[in-house]
Amino acid sequence: MENLLKLEPNPSLLSNQTLPVVNSYNEWDPLKEVIVGRVEGAAVPHLEPALLTNSYPNNLGFFQKYAGQPFPQELVEIAAKELNDFCHILEAFGVTVRRPDIIDFSKTYKTLDFEASGFYAAMPRDVLIVVGNEIIEAPMAWRSRFFEYRAYRSLMLEYFRRGAKWTTAPKPSMSDEFYDFEFAQKPVEERYALTKKGHFVIRDTEPSFDAADIVRFGRDLFVQRSHVTNNIGITWLKRHLGDTFRVHVVNFPDYNPMHIDASLVPLRPGLALINPARPCLEKELFKKAGWDLVDAAPSTLPDNWPMYMCSSWVCMNILSLDPETIVVEKQEEPMQKLLKDLGFKVIPVDLRHLYTFGGSFHCVTCDVRREGKLEEYGF
Ligand code: ARG
Repeated sequence: MENLLKLEPNPSLLSNQTLPVVNSYNEWDPLKEVIVGRVEGAAVPHLEPALLTNSYPNNLGFFQKYAGQPFPQELVEIAAKELNDFCHILEAFGVTVRRPDIIDFSKTYKTLDFEASGFYAAMPRDVLIVVGNEIIEAPMAWRSRFFEYRAYRSLMLEYFRRGAKWTTAPKPSMSDEFYDFEFAQKPVEERYALTKKGHFVIRDTEPSFDAADIVRFGRDLFVQRSHVTNNIGITWLKRHLGDTFRVHVVNFPDYNPMHIDASLVPLRPGLALINPARPCLEKELFKKAGWDLVDAAPSTLPDNWPMYMCSSWVCMNILSLDPETIVVEKQEEPMQKLLKDLGFKVIPVDLRHLYTFGGSFHCVTCDVRREGKLEEYGF
């Protein structure tokens, strides 16, 4: 049997049958099952307040031109191919890959409080988080993302039927009171200055967080306040997770904050990447816990690459297959070298065109099952 397993890397034999269907405590334990997002059906959102603060001023033209329409077909095709190829690579490593449903996100919808059209199901990391044996749908803050969870509902139902604990956090109404419209209209420098003082585009009227503002280190979770995650959202998370987990708020000099996974990325127990352009303000907390924080290497992306939703620091947005093996974008050679020098086996995979949609390997995935159990890592 031992030999057979070695000769035939059959995913169903390799997957650990004794693990609960949903089981993931950190970002690095051996990966068994993962949801990989899709760009099919993606639409360009209208310039709502929370989107306006996240994008960069030079992109206004793109949003004005395409708002409410499907993403340009040639962008979708090339990014979809990259994602499909990535899925096959994961499968070759024995990982079970699941995909969301295809939804036409350009459809408009009307709730009691607002009207909008959708965005995409490209980034499961933004909407779903697995904390131990529970999978939580995040409440989110963009009107264009209100119904994003729908693309994952068949998967959630399946996991639920197979015994998973499935929670949807209370969604904000996203009514006008929820946003600071004036904030969104201010020039970038003023917005940055306000963010520095702790003002964000969403108010604290109702809980809100994106799952990608949280990073998991076993019993300890780190979360950042951002333009999509508010204090009352963090309070909801803390109260919901109770005493089993500890939720710490961390800060970065990032004046466009949305999603922590291009700022703080743990690689294995005791070692995490940080973003040298926005170094974590709580470095001491990590040092005291015995963690080394290593500066990520900058991206090799050309300056004129279309980036509508994020910075090129998504080069550090890697996916760990286990504590020794990491998927890194194929053209990010400096990042690859850094990780190799730190002793990792690096798997280079093409995903550059996904950057244009706002993320890389960590964003486009949600690890549903990793081997391993609840542990503490020095905090
Ligand atoms: N806001 C980050 C940056 O621009 C990108 C984070 C993307 N992460 C995600 N889960 N979508 O550097």
